[in-house]
Amino acid sequence: MTKKIPLLIDTDPGVDDALAILMAFNDADHEVVGLSIAAGNVGLEYTVRNALKLCEVAGRDDIPVFAGCDSPLVLAPREDAAHVHGRDGFGDSGFEPAAREAESEHAALAILRLSHEHAGRLLLVALGPLTNIALALKLDPTLPQRVARFVVMGGAVSAHGNITAAAEFNVAFDPEAAHVVFEAFPHFDLADWEATIAHGFHHQKAERWLQAASPRARFYDRISLQTRKWSADRRGELWHSADALAMAFALQPDGATRLAERPVQVELAGALTRGATVTDWNRQTGRPDNARILLGYDQARFEALVEAALAAG
Ligand code: BDR
Ligand code: CA
Repeated sequence: MTKKIPLLIDTDPGVDDALAILMAFNDADHEVVGLSIAAGNVGLEYTVRNALKLCEVAGRDDIPVFAGCDSPLVLAPREDAAHVHGRDGFGDSGFEPAAREAESEHAALAILRLSHEHAGRLLLVALGPLTNIALALKLDPTLPQRVARFVVMGGAVSAHGNITAAAEFNVAFDPEAAHVVFEAFPHFDLADWEATIAHGFHHQKAERWLQAASPRARFYDRISLQTRKWSADRRGELWHSADALAMAFALQPDGATRLAERPVQVELAGALTRGATVTDWNRQTGRPDNARILLGYDQARFEALVEAALAAG
């Protein structure tokens, strides 16, 4: 039997983060070695609480949860994503907090420690603002040398943003952190918001998956209700789960049907474009291709991974 790939997830749960984490829990080839938590969708107090609760519901209290940065590196963002995920980040469904607490180690330190413990094998997946990873890089710039593969959910590669006209939420929440990370990693895989929009699934189908008798599906049905309603009102018949698509790409990269490698940089200054990811499609800057951009993923495979993650347990 081959050894499982160690998987560290940096995340700000978040309804779509939760689905992605359940997909990781259900994967036979990967072993989740930790959840490092950032502020983003909602405040850190909630994102940590949500991560702990999800582990409890999934029967995965063996996975350490590390609280990280409670605000962006430099500037406070104008808004969080509570309008999408609920004020508590998990649909305001009023669940009892988990019995367990987060570890005492800071997320940035845990990222560095785990990168040493799993040097050369670690799969690092970022599903939230990149604050913790940027801080880890500032503490130890050699981090990328020990990460075998780095997958980021973030950006909008042709500037069709979601939180602003040009910028995607995770990058716009902490553009300086995204800048630090994009400059430090010579190669990373990018699943952006535009790929998310190209890979929605029908609400009716998702509702069927959510009928599974597992505790995971029962909990997910509850915490996703509010955001599913918001999405149906706003975006119509398709439901989009950015972090789930990124996780499908992370777990099964051979499901990608179209990829493009290009230089991607983060706009820090623009009055209208702060937090936008500027993709050098024509390779005019002379910069090296740092991002492998996901343009297409096998939709049936993506949906099968989601359905199985909900039914598992
Ligand atoms: C990203 O922003 C967050 O609201 C989601 O959890 C996802 O990580 C999508 O832009
Ligand atoms: Ca997220």
